[in-house]
Amino acid sequence: MNELWQQSILFVGGKGGVGKSTSAAALSLVFAKKGWKTLIVSTDPAHNLGDIFHKKVKDTKTYLLNNLWGMEINPQIESDKYIDSVKMNVKGLVKASMIEEVHRQIDMASSAPGAEEAALFDRIVSIILEEKEEFDKIIFDTAPTGHTIRLLSLPELMGVWMDGMLERRKKTNDNYTQLLNDGEPVEDPIYDVLQQRRSKFAKVRSVLLNTSVTGFLFVLIPERLPILETEKAVELMGKHGLEINGLIINKIIPDEADGQFLQKRKRQEKEYLRLIEKKFTSQRFYKIPLFEEDIHSLERLEAFSQDFRQQVEGGTKK
Ligand SMILES: Nc1ncnc2c1ncn2[C@@H]1O[C@H](COP(=O)(O)OP(=O)(O)OP(=O)(O)O)[C@@H](O)[C@H]1O
Ligand SMILES: [Mg+2]
Repeated sequence: MNELWQQSILFVGGKGGVGKSTSAAALSLVFAKKGWKTLIVSTDPAHNLGDIFHKKVKDTKTYLLNNLWGMEINPQIESDKYIDSVKMNVKGLVKASMIEEVHRQIDMASSAPGAEEAALFDRIVSIILEEKEEFDKIIFDTAPTGHTIRLLSLPELMGVWMDGMLERRKKTNDNYTQLLNDGEPVEDPIYDVLQQRRSKFAKVRSVLLNTSVTGFLFVLIPERLPILETEKAVELMGKHGLEINGLIINKIIPDEADGQFLQKRKRQEKEYLRLIEKKFTSQRFYKIPLFEEDIHSLERLEAFSQDFRQQVEGGTKK
């Protein structure tokens, strides 16, 4: 059986504009129609789940249609929320006269590269842990980026680093305890936050690295640059123990496309298709034609998803 039927968490990734959101939406529709309770999560700031399903999709679960729920999360808002929570955590631990400076430092850290990704990753982790039991399938319209992959793939480092922080924190707290509370333990909110993060990361890692639970799909179009970029991404993930379950080759010019111009392009495209088969020998392929128009309605999405479903059920490797 195709892994896609078994795995409960799927990430759909790929370069800009290749059809990630459309593919993720089509897949969610396939699952929902099979009777699986499905959640599709978009992290795209220019969301289009709402356009496709003609519903306002919130940043919490929103009912879309039978068996299908959607959620749109905004990396900027996640990052702001995250920063606010960090500020809340230091409140009461820092002298009032210092608070402004501390906030300034936190704000500076929040504009550092990777901060938005870290906040987004944190939210993705929470969604997985909170919704895993309720939904049969959760689809993320986003690939883990380099930064996330590193976060996931350095468990030892993460573990050691977190343990070090926890250890130091505990020492500080023990000192306070002696000083302030006659040896009675005092509560340490930062220690608790670190502890929670540690166990949260450990839990999600085991979920994401379990290939019978989690899958990664890449979308590409048969053109030179997307092929090369996909090759790099697949390699990077492989290096960190994350396997790709399949490639969706989207926007293939249909055979019946008429006109000399299109036929010429189609010949060129055939070469790229051959290149894809040569480069990704161990991958499963799903081939989706270029439709006459954009996929901006449920009817069109149905056509797209039917093509997809047939290939998943057909179980062909190529
Ligand atoms: N097979 C197809 N035939 C025709 N149009 C398509 C096809 N696949 C996707 N599209 C259209 O191409 C555009 C880009 O698709 P989509 O938004 O899914 O890409 P994306 O990879 O999610 O883009 P972004 O990187 O901006 O998030 C959309 O207008 C979509 O309707
Ligand atoms: Mg998109």
